[in-house]
Amino acid sequence: MQNLKKFLDYFSNHGQIALPAIQKTHINQQESFEELAEIVLSLAKRHLGENWIKTLVDGYLYMLIDINRSQADYERRGKYLNKSYDDVYNSVYNDSKFMDLYHWGVFVCTFAWEHHVKIYNLYRKSFLPLLNTKEGCLLDLGCGSGVWSFLTTHFLPQWTSHGIDISKKSVELSTTMAKSSGLESKVKFRESDALSFKGTKKYDAAISCFLMEHLEEPQRLLQNMASNLEARGYAFITAALTAAEVDHISEFRRESEIVSMAEEVGFRVVSMYSSAPSCHPDSQKFLPRALGLVLQKRKNDIW
Ligand SMILES: C[S@@+](CC[C@H](N)C(=O)[O-])C[C@H]1O[C@@H](n2cnc3c(N)ncnc32)[C@H](O)[C@@H]1O
Repeated sequence: MQNLKKFLDYFSNHGQIALPAIQKTHINQQESFEELAEIVLSLAKRHLGENWIKTLVDGYLYMLIDINRSQADYERRGKYLNKSYDDVYNSVYNDSKFMDLYHWGVFVCTFAWEHHVKIYNLYRKSFLPLLNTKEGCLLDLGCGSGVWSFLTTHFLPQWTSHGIDISKKSVELSTTMAKSSGLESKVKFRESDALSFKGTKKYDAAISCFLMEHLEEPQRLLQNMASNLEARGYAFITAALTAAEVDHISEFRRESEIVSMAEEVGFRVVSMYSSAPSCHPDSQKFLPRALGLVLQKRKNDIW
């Protein structure tokens, strides 16, 4: 709890405008919030050293401004700003200054937003218990900072993970984070496209968090995930719905759109949870939210 306490102390002095939402998450989801925050903050602290809290808070506040601006614009225009990968590649994935801030912003969102902690609860209570084999290897598509790979190997110490990301910056960051926590033999990261990556063997389980909405053809991600997974292997995916960000391209309006895509490529749905912030104004047209799905790769038409 030491890291979390220091983080919240600093936040209350330097991020007051965003503090109430984090406090609300802490109160409403105390156990999960504290567990999750402590794991991710200790990874960041080991990696970033002395200025770890400032770097996290700066990234988070920068990201919040960008998200609020994008959502307001989306409410007005009724659709996302960018439609293609090319539109965002140079201003996002290939911009190392932006990616520096963005990474730490995404990292903090994992535990700061109550609706994200509820998605973590789905992962923790409905996905991880399914990986009950002693050992296994996880594929993490669009791994970003690698947070889901780190979490999985934290809770399942006999497991290893391979994280795939298209951004060189993401791969450098996650690789050095693994080294700084002494996890480099367990968690490996590689620069590659999640839509075409082929492992040398099938994976025992797969994860892809908050990548679907960044893709022009999100069904190709699920297709490639299924083709890299053992039959009857389990997968955990998350996606943002009607939630604008500068690099969100695919706009999902209904949960069923994602469920149908998953079923189409050979998954059955084991559990799902659609998680929305409770404080979103009623007057607005869109409800930005996150969907979490626990899936199993079917071996035949039925399961
Ligand atoms: C919102 S971040 C999510 C990161 C991480 N999964 C998490 O939940 O914290 C999306 C990530 O997907 C990566 N990405 C975007 N398009 C990709 C692609 N075609 N293949 C692999 N990674 C991609 C980005 O570089 C970024 O790191």
